[in-house]
Amino acid sequence: MTSILVFSGSTRPASLNQRLADVAAQRLAGMGVTVTALSLADHALPFADDDGRADPPFAARALTSQVLEHDGLFIACPEYNSGYPALLKNALDWVSMVRKDGPGLAGKVVALGAASPGARGGYRALTQFRTMLELGFGALVIPDMASVPFANKVLPAEGGLTDEGASKFLDATLKRLVLECRRSAAVPRLEGL
Ligand SMILES: Cc1cc2nc3c(=O)[nH]c(=O)nc-3n(C[C@H](O)[C@H](O)[C@H](O)COP(=O)(O)O)c2cc1C
Repeated sequence: MTSILVFSGSTRPASLNQRLADVAAQRLAGMGVTVTALSLADHALPFADDDGRADPPFAARALTSQVLEHDGLFIACPEYNSGYPALLKNALDWVSMVRKDGPGLAGKVVALGAASPGARGGYRALTQFRTMLELGFGALVIPDMASVPFANKVLPAEGGLTDEGASKFLDATLKRLVLECRRSAAVPRLEGL
């Protein structure tokens, strides 16, 4: 069965991106895939540097195992000064150091979402984040990206995603994620390519 790992790039207790990740996890489960939700707060990591390659911390190895065990990822990415947060970069840099058989997210399908109180919904961060995931980490990032503007109003602590337009975008993004995970599982690996 298709399996998807879901997490957000914020460990704030009232994180809007965590709420978006929670909504995504619930909807993915409703689509009949196996969903694992994790919090990066449970994978507290030091800043990644080259010394970590030789002896990565347990949290880095545990996070990498979880990534490898799933077909795809949904990541809810906060926007800070138009960019993606250091928390996500650091966690994924660790994955790239632990993984030995290729780039950190090779063979993984990734869908992105973002939630922000602003009018652009974190979309600018997503354009940068996806480029790094594709070029640096070897991920297949699906074109649809589910940004949620005015998220402080439309992602209440209880009640899910209340904006109809953003909700439809999220559904389309998640459906594409599941479809691409199934498609890539169906294609035999072409060794040497
Ligand atoms: C230093 C800083 C820079 C920020 N820059 C942006 C920004 O460029 N665009 C934006 O939409 N929101 C920006 N925000 C607001 C965040 O999107 C908002 O705090 C959001 O709720 C953070 O995500 P979280 O709720 O998941 O923790 C910024 C917040 C901080 C503290």
